[in-house]
Amino acid sequence: MDQERLYLDFNATSPLSRSVSDWLKSGEVLFANPSSQHSSGKASRKLINESRAQIYSVFGKNEKDTQLFFHSGATEGMITFAHSFSEWARLTGKELLICYAKTDHPAATSLGERYLGPHVKCLELLIDQNLEYDHDKNLQVLQDKKDNNPELIILYHHLWVHNETGIINPLSDLKILKSIPDLYIHVDAVQAPGKIRDWKMLEVGDIFSFSAHKFGALKGIGFSFYNKNISFYPLISGGGQQNGLRSGTENPQGIKSIDLALQDLKSIDMDQNYHLRETLEKTLLKELKGIGGIISKVGKIRNSNTIYFYFNKHSSDITLALFDLNGLQISAGSACSSGAAKASIIMNHLGFKEEAKNGLRISLPFISSESQLTSIITKISFIISKLK
Ligand SMILES: Cc1ncc(COP(=O)(O)O)c(C=O)c1O
Repeated sequence: MDQERLYLDFNATSPLSRSVSDWLKSGEVLFANPSSQHSSGKASRKLINESRAQIYSVFGKNEKDTQLFFHSGATEGMITFAHSFSEWARLTGKELLICYAKTDHPAATSLGERYLGPHVKCLELLIDQNLEYDHDKNLQVLQDKKDNNPELIILYHHLWVHNETGIINPLSDLKILKSIPDLYIHVDAVQAPGKIRDWKMLEVGDIFSFSAHKFGALKGIGFSFYNKNISFYPLISGGGQQNGLRSGTENPQGIKSIDLALQDLKSIDMDQNYHLRETLEKTLLKELKGIGGIISKVGKIRNSNTIYFYFNKHSSDITLALFDLNGLQISAGSACSSGAAKASIIMNHLGFKEEAKNGLRISLPFISSESQLTSIITKISFIISKLK
């Protein structure tokens, strides 16, 4: 085996995109504080303003009815909106219900562990055996809650593209929920850019959150769009930067990197990516016969880069190391922050109790080639032959 290492963990974090990397190498990276009044500060402010305009334009949004602000990433975005809605409800003497499913990202599910006040409750949304939200049943439950408490405000989380499985829960399906007054949909759009065909079409939701490091931009920065009909109460207050929406010195390099990386995503060949993922999946399915399986196949609509699979008898701790030693850097999908294998909530939900710690995720690059795929397949066949 040659020891070329292939990075196949794009859902955890992606390498810098070509334009971001070239821009950093050029050295023409503005450093000044955009709040400063001198010409260097003004140049940083100009960079931010131009990048903001580009980001609005990529997603077909406009400043008149949509607010855009930057934060450190989607985790902060979600906590910000939980806090903001809690304040909105408290100040208007109402109750708030925060909804999410157990299979959502921990950034959403951990909101249930956070004390946001006696007027805030959480509700676990139902999902079915295809890992789709059961919108009809969820609608019924929410309608009952609203009938019992007509003043109730609802913050409804929706994970658009699942980070472990790549399964898409389409935004258009959320339309039925809009019949409930005072229900606001927060879309976790983190895994959408560059991995699904309609990633630029931010429809139906009221709020959309993104993390820049998932699509080729720098780490430590993300952004959210929200409809201006939402009353917003910032989580982070201080010097009043970003018109008070999120205080703290702004990050012009991070913001510019978002603009550049989004422009690069436009040239992705999505058909080719789907074709490569499907080809790899077919091979993997054959190789896993009798010794494992592919979880993400339960999804009706899938993204272009993710395969979530398992071995019947080998924990992901062991198999990850074996993949790494043989040049494939993949992930367990549900690893905790220390990297140790954790039982997958997804696999438990689907009834794979015994195998729940054996899940593995391949998440392919935005741009890959047939020759790269051949190399991946050769390495996988070799690894599986060792396991057998
Ligand atoms: C679907 C999804 N939502 C939210 C997050 C949280 O993003 P961050 O860690 O950048 O705050 C992630 C990160 O893995 C994710 O995949």
